[in-house]
Amino acid sequence: VKGSLGVSDVRKLVEKVDGWLTDSEGELLYRLAKDCNKGVIVEIGSWKGKSTIWLSAGSKAGNKVKVYAVDPHTGSEEHKEAYGKVWTFEEFKKNIKNAGMDDIVIPLVKESVPAAAEFKEPVGLIFVDGAHDYESVKKDFKAWYPKVADGGIMVFHDTFFDGPKRVVEESVFKSGNFRKAGFVGITTFAEKVAANTRADRARNKLTLLVKNSCQRLSGLNLPKPVRTASKKVLASLFGLKGALGKK
Ligand SMILES: C[S@@+](CC[C@H](N)C(=O)[O-])C[C@H]1O[C@@H](n2cnc3c(N)ncnc32)[C@H](O)[C@@H]1O
Repeated sequence: VKGSLGVSDVRKLVEKVDGWLTDSEGELLYRLAKDCNKGVIVEIGSWKGKSTIWLSAGSKAGNKVKVYAVDPHTGSEEHKEAYGKVWTFEEFKKNIKNAGMDDIVIPLVKESVPAAAEFKEPVGLIFVDGAHDYESVKKDFKAWYPKVADGGIMVFHDTFFDGPKRVVEESVFKSGNFRKAGFVGITTFAEKVAANTRADRARNKLTLLVKNSCQRLSGLNLPKPVRTASKKVLASLFGLKGALGKK
């Protein structure tokens, strides 16, 4: 597959790629990657390439910036517990090649913190989905935040779970350096700015409130039509369209 692909093409392409990302989260990555114009794209935690394919397809449909895929490919603690010894690099390479993304994806087979120490290019978009315990996510944040350009976007997966949830609360939602925070599924994103305004902070606070309410509501057994309707309203207010004001 060569050339630029639309969202529905990518959805088909990733159907058989193992991973945890939902289609709507993938679509979020695609759209953010398509709009990325402040620097390169970085992914922390690639596994077998599902999110890498969404990011690189989005980039190809937009400004064709490179996608650095950082992963030692030896899995996180939970993978080692579930599968024993882990080595995902061969399958990652195969999936990226099959998707026709090998000309834009640069794998860095190493851990996030040492990769950041050597990284020289400004980052326009970063997707953080490596080890999920609090200390690791915090380290990822500290290592990569300075590399992200003003106007660049940071995205975090699994932010309804303890480690990533606490990190986005402390370092994104309550920070003076992010605006237009939003979430799709369990993925949170926000734009880095030199300094946010009081209005930006109020909006981030409201989004956090809604995010936490959504998490509580998702634990309740609401009838499907109520869940679908509230999801639509929330997506229009706090998803990509509402938060970043794009398409
Ligand atoms: C949840 S998986 C990533 C899933 C992938 N983003 C997707 O959508 O399919 C987490 C990945 O993080 C990687 N990882 C664990 N610790 C890491 C670290 N310190 N730096 C970079 N990647 C790490 C693991 O090897 C694993 O492949």
